[in-house]
Order: sequence, then structure tokens, then C-alpha cells
Amino acid sequence: MSQEEIGELKSVMERFLAQSSELIAYKEALDIQAEQIKKMQEEIQQSRVLSALGEMAATVAHEIRNPLAGIAGYASLLARSTPPEDSRRKYVDKIIGGISSLNKIVSNLLVYTRKTNLQKQSIDLVAWAEAILSHAEIEIEKEKKQVRIERDFPTEPLNAEIDSEKLQQVMLNLLINAIQAIETEGKIFVSIKSNGNAAEITVADTGKGIEQEHLKNIFTPFFTTKEQGTGLGLAIVKKIVDLHEGEISVESEPNKGTVFCIRIFF
Ligand SMILES: Nc1ncnc2c1ncn2[C@@H]1O[C@H](COP(=O)(O)OP(=O)(O)OP(=O)(O)O)[C@@H](O)[C@H]1O
Ligand SMILES: [Mg+2]
Repeated sequence: MSQEEIGELKSVMERFLAQSSELIAYKEALDIQAEQIKKMQEEIQQSRVLSALGEMAATVAHEIRNPLAGIAGYASLLARSTPPEDSRRKYVDKIIGGISSLNKIVSNLLVYTRKTNLQKQSIDLVAWAEAILSHAEIEIEKEKKQVRIERDFPTEPLNAEIDSEKLQQVMLNLLINAIQAIETEGKIFVSIKSNGNAAEITVADTGKGIEQEHLKNIFTPFFTTKEQGTGLGLAIVKKIVDLHEGEISVESEPNKGTVFCIRIFF
């Protein structure tokens, strides 16, 4: 073999080696893409299952609502004809308590699973929040707790495009969680401010806080640490904030308190 032929053979070999390492890199990229496609297919399948489950839950909740209203009616008739001194009255009260828990589960399920469209309007967040805080104050009285609500609101109106009813549900769920997190006495701090391109609403409490390992689960439907909880409160909160294309974040420290912050972009 001539020197020239050897040189040519060498260059062919080099090209072959370069191409084969290119091919190996292509194959690796393809493997990664195949893996991603498989993962996406699994996710699509899972979201199909979840949406079918959601529809079923909504149907069941809807079907339960009417008979439940009937039971509630008869239970309150029974309560009216059973005076407090009657030994059977405590059973009637237990039935009424159970019905009210079921009602809460059913209506939360309907809110969570229902397909919703926002009805947005330009709203002054300060006046809107004041009205919601009066509801929260009634809740505090009902729970017989020493909870003071502190406000940090702008002195001027602050307008944002929101669905005021749905976002009211968000605020109430956060406030009720805050009240429930406070054992007997504490503070809830609500602030509203304009922060560049977003309105920022913060609800902070001095309650018992959330364990680090629970933080990742709190927005998952049915996650609850409460005996009487449905675990749908924060799932609904997240759903409504997402519909507004907003953001929600949480910071919490056990025995210190919790801060939820919502950002609604202008
Ligand atoms: N402010 C808070 N302080 C401490 N823990 C909280 C707070 N907010 C939420 N959590 C935790 O997150 C969990 C989920 O909250 P979520 O509102 O979704 O359900 P829930 O309050 O348990 O039930 P429901 O809202 O139906 O009454 C709660 O059970 C609680 O453990
Ligand atoms: Mg809740």
C-alpha cells in the first residue's frame, strides 16, 4: 500500500469515526426524546383519568345534594320538636352536624370540579378586601378565639381585573385556614400592595405553621390534617389563582406561622 493510499485510508477512518460518534450522540438524543414522549403520554393518560374522575365526582356530588337537602329539612323539623332538655336532642344535633359536614364536602367538590369561566371586572381591592374581612371577623367570633386582624392597605384605591366572587372564595379559604391555625389567640396580617406589574395580596398568621414535609402537598386535592377538613380549600384557591393566570406562594415555619402571597398581574 502506497503512502498516499495509507493517508486516504486514514482520513476515511477518521471520518468514519467522527460520523459514528455523531450517530451515537443522535441516538442518545433520540433516546431522551423517546423517554420524554413516553412520559408525556403517561401524563396525558393520567390527566384523562383525573378528568373522568372529576366528572364522576361532580355528578355524584350533584346527585347527593337534593336528598341531603331533604334530610337537612327533616332534621331541623326534628330539632324543633325536640326540646334541649330531651335526652334524644344530642343525637339530633349530631345528625345536623354530620349534614353540615356533608354539605361542605359536596359544595367544595362541586366548586373544585366544575368547569368555570371567570367574570372579570375592574375592582378596587381595598374596598373588596374590607368586605371580606368583616366575614372573617364573624368567623372569628363563631370560633370563640382571640384573633386580631391587622391591615396594611394602600390609602388610594388599587384597581385590578378580577372575578371578585371567585377571588373572595380564595381570600375566605386563606383567612379561615389562618383562623383555624391559631389555637386560642393570635394575629392575622393582611396586606395589599401594588408591586410593579402585579397586585400583591398577603395573608399571614401567627398560627401553628405547616410541617416542612406537608408543604408540597397542601394544594393537592383532599390533603388535610384536620378532622373536619375536606382538603379542597387550597386546591380551590390554586385553581382560581391559576384561572387568573396569577401566582401563589407560601412560606411557613412550625409554631411560628404561615404567609400566603397571591400575585395578580395587571
Ligand atoms: N394557615 C395555615 N396554617 C397552618 N396550616 C395550614 C394553613 N393553611 C393550610 N394549612 C394546612 O394545609 C392543609 C390543607 O388546607 P385546605 O384548606 O386545602 O384543607 P383543610 O383546611 O384541611 O380543609 P377545608 O378547607 O375543607 O376545611 C390543612 O389541613 C393544613 O394542614
Ligand atoms: Mg381550609
